[in-house]
Amino acid sequence: MRVFIDTATLPEIREACSWGIVDGLTTNPSLIRRAVEGRDGVDMEAHLEEICRIVPGPVSLEVGSLTSHEMVAEAVGLHDRFNPVSGNVVIKIPVSTRTGDEEPDFEGLKAIAQLARRGIPVNATLVMSSEQALLCAKAGATYVSPFMGRVDDYAASHADTADAECVPAGERLLSNIAEIFRTYAFDCAVIAASVRHVAHVRDAALAGADIATIPFPVLVEMTRHPKTSEGVRRFVEDLVPSYSKLLEMLSAR
Ligand code: E4P
Repeated sequence: MRVFIDTATLPEIREACSWGIVDGLTTNPSLIRRAVEGRDGVDMEAHLEEICRIVPGPVSLEVGSLTSHEMVAEAVGLHDRFNPVSGNVVIKIPVSTRTGDEEPDFEGLKAIAQLARRGIPVNATLVMSSEQALLCAKAGATYVSPFMGRVDDYAASHADTADAECVPAGERLLSNIAEIFRTYAFDCAVIAASVRHVAHVRDAALAGADIATIPFPVLVEMTRHPKTSEGVRRFVEDLVPSYSKLLEMLSAR
């Protein structure tokens, strides 16, 4: 499973990339807001250029509009501006852009299909059901991002209604999508998104996700175990002087 980092915050990106475990990155408008909030005079163009330069793999940048026409224009603009930096830009398009109970819309799918025809890779975002994932893959998305945490939230808040039985929580949603894509050999990678804790990462790996996009604090948490720390303390205590001396001598060569 590939590991993406889910952030737009430069110090987090630099740090995680230095660990050698980052295969890509995802952003969204909320993550960009968090990265620049409270900082005056941020040069957004330079900020995004820096991200594209640092990350050794696909970088997802999201559109902000709600119609297919505007989303495609923004996507092409983002791709033309930032893809030349490192050739790694992917455009995030919401599967649907309806914001409430109004008539259903198909703007997201239309935008995905148009961008796919232009050869611009799309990460279909805000995917909360297998049916949505299937449509995004059919429309030509290169990636789909099922939102584990938000689907878990939804399932929990509907736990006492009959609807709950139809709502697969995050892990089940991921394994369903992975199985559907395998069965029909869709050329579309599944990104476990909205990862909230380390168990989500394990669940994503077990469910067959191709990628998990992980917030920095969860990546940090993944390195921790009390028995690892205890083991390190013990090894340091047990170093005999002759072995320490040898290590010192060899590392100075
Ligand atoms: C990544 O592509 C998503 O935008 C992100 O994982 C959403 O996470 P959240 O549900 O914690 O906001």
